[in-house]
Amino acid sequence: MSDFHKSVLLKETIAGLRVEKNEKYIDATLGGGGHSFEILRLGGKVLGIDVDKDAIAYVKSKKPESLTLARGNFRDIDKIALLNNFGKVAGIIFDLGVSSHQIDSVTRGFSFQNEGPLDMRMDRELGVRALDLIKILTKGELSEIFTKFGEETRAWAISNAIVRARSIKPIETTTDLAKIVLAIGGKSKKVFQALRIAVNDELNSILEALPKALGLLKENGRLCVISFHSLEDRIVKKKFLEFEEKGMGRIITKKPIIPTEDEIEGNKRARSAKLRIFSAKGGSALG
Ligand SMILES: C[S@@+](CC[C@H](N)C(=O)[O-])C[C@H]1O[C@@H](n2cnc3c(N)ncnc32)[C@H](O)[C@@H]1O
Repeated sequence: MSDFHKSVLLKETIAGLRVEKNEKYIDATLGGGGHSFEILRLGGKVLGIDVDKDAIAYVKSKKPESLTLARGNFRDIDKIALLNNFGKVAGIIFDLGVSSHQIDSVTRGFSFQNEGPLDMRMDRELGVRALDLIKILTKGELSEIFTKFGEETRAWAISNAIVRARSIKPIETTTDLAKIVLAIGGKSKKVFQALRIAVNDELNSILEALPKALGLLKENGRLCVISFHSLEDRIVKKKFLEFEEKGMGRIITKKPIIPTEDEIEGNKRARSAKLRIFSAKGGSALG
């Protein structure tokens, strides 16, 4: 297990990918490299992509062989793959969301439980941080984000409280925001999730990436996607159905694969994970 991130649904994802020696795979969300290292161990070649410099530096420090690293957003997976000579591959994995390293780094501002700047950028080259959204968006825009990306029922009241608070003093830290949300009876977890999705444009990135990823797969190639909340899972489910209807392959997981109780006991973050698998045209049953 890596100290950077504990992989979720590792065994199930690797089984879903059906890793074969000398075949090429893309790990679109490298993180601590847990899934990549397992593919390498089984003899596969991997292109590991992450938008976060920390992930690339961490995995690089492990000096893995047969692992090509690329810093970039998976919404450009087609270009990144071609640039690195991974144009036709046997499998691709997306393990969405944030790594434990990101959550635990107080300076990144992902956690409402640790005091830090309200940043939340996975890609620190992005211009807009969560605190910028909190500062410049209107009450209506904030409320829409909390409703759409956080499914927060007290979105309007929270936005109201934010606008009132920022007129007195700028809201710049995670605890500044968490206190406002708590005082109004909202859920910090939902509000933080919503802001993170907005800052990183997460849902659009997945929407754009999935068809591109499918286009990179060889016949029978596998696309494995692990999501952590219903908004992501809904997109994956819908896209896979659309691919199947268009005759681009078949859905392997009629119902998503979820972690065992043992896994959840050992890793609370696994609790909400859902794995969906798609096989590019010509795929056979999960073996
Ligand atoms: C849950 S972690 C992956 C953990 C990894 N599978 C492991 O086992 O160690 C998700 C990673 O995806 C990265 N990520 C999230 N959205 C991304 C995007 N649009 N493009 C590239 N990387 C992204 C994050 O920076 C984070 O490092």
